[in-house]
This record gives sequence, structure tokens and C-alpha cells, in this order.
Amino acid sequence: MFKIAVLISGGGSNLQSIIDTISASKVGYEITCVIADRKCYGIERAEKNNIKTKIFDRKILKKDISKKIDEYLGNKVDLVVLAGFLSILDENFINKRKGRVINIHPSLLPKFGGSGMFGMRIHRAVIETKEYESGCTVHYVDAGVDTGEIIEQRKVKVEAEDTAETLQKKVLVEEHKLLPKAIEQVLNNLR
Ligand code: GAR
Repeated sequence: MFKIAVLISGGGSNLQSIIDTISASKVGYEITCVIADRKCYGIERAEKNNIKTKIFDRKILKKDISKKIDEYLGNKVDLVVLAGFLSILDENFINKRKGRVINIHPSLLPKFGGSGMFGMRIHRAVIETKEYESGCTVHYVDAGVDTGEIIEQRKVKVEAEDTAETLQKKVLVEEHKLLPKAIEQVLNNLR
């Protein structure tokens, strides 16, 4: 049984999609712990499902957050899943876990990625630039921001009447399908 850690900063709907997949079907992995960089609703979701949680407060730890998470995880997990985790993990953390850290991003990377591009900011930018499609990407994490090798993407159409809010909802529906599938795929490659 593979062990994964899920890192979050917010509502945790992507975390929920992993939890639901694990309880609905036979998967070859379990969530060992959920880590957040602030108090957030995702932590409550984990607790409701009896998953171990840990908060590393980014405001207190600042640049030390990677080191603290690194020490906490050690070699305990096979895969680290960034599911709406908004702190940037440093090179040391990533280099120790090459091919074992993945991230979900709510755009069709390389479009609308990079530093400062997260959450609603992305959907607003997509609407402002009048894109005709958007979507989500799961990618390996490398030392850059949103630059790692793409594992898989899902697209949605941007309609004339879409707002950043409606687009976010549409993209999240696809994220919830994509992330559990990508986890399975990445773990299969580790076998
Ligand atoms: C998701 O849309 C995720 O793709 C995004 O944050 C949201 C978290 O939602 N991540 C980023 O923007 C990373 N750059 P959730 O807490 O409900 O899963």
C-alpha cells in the first residue's frame, strides 16, 4: 500500500476528492497525513475522516516551512500531493523527492502559471484575456513555480457569459476527476 501526504491551504475540495475516491474504490494508496500552512476548512475535512493532520504556520515559519515539513515527513511517504497548497517548497525539499511531488493547478499550464498565479487570480486573468478554453493541470513539481513536467490536463470551454466565479466552479469539477486519476498514474509508475 502506497502512502501519500496531502498538503493544503484552503477549502480542501481536492483533498475531499481523494478521500472520496479512496472510500469508493479499491486504490493502492492511503493518506498518511494532511498538512496545512494555516488553519483551514480542509483540516476539518481530514479530521472528520480520521486522517492525521498537522499545521505548519507559514506566517510563523516563513522560509523554514519547507525544512519543517521535510523533517516531519522524512521517508514516511511515497508521494507528496499539493492540493491547493500555496506555500512554495524549496529546492532541497523537491530534490530529495524527485518525481514524488505533484501539484494541481487550475489552468492549462504553461498558460497562467508562475509566481503569484493561484486560485481566483487565475480565473480572473483567463476571463480578462478572453481565452476560449481553460482547465486544470497536474504536474511534477520542480525547483521552479508551475514549471515541472505535465502529467495530465483537462479542458473546459470558457463561455461568453462565464465569470471568474463560474469558471472556477467548472474547473474544480474537472480538478476533482483529474487529481485522483493522476495520483493513481504516478504511483503505478513507481511500482
Ligand atoms: C484549486 O483550484 C487548486 O487547483 C488551486 O487552489 C484551489 C484549491 O481548492 N491551486 C493553485 O492555485 C496552486 N497554484 P481546494 O482547497 O478546494 O482543493
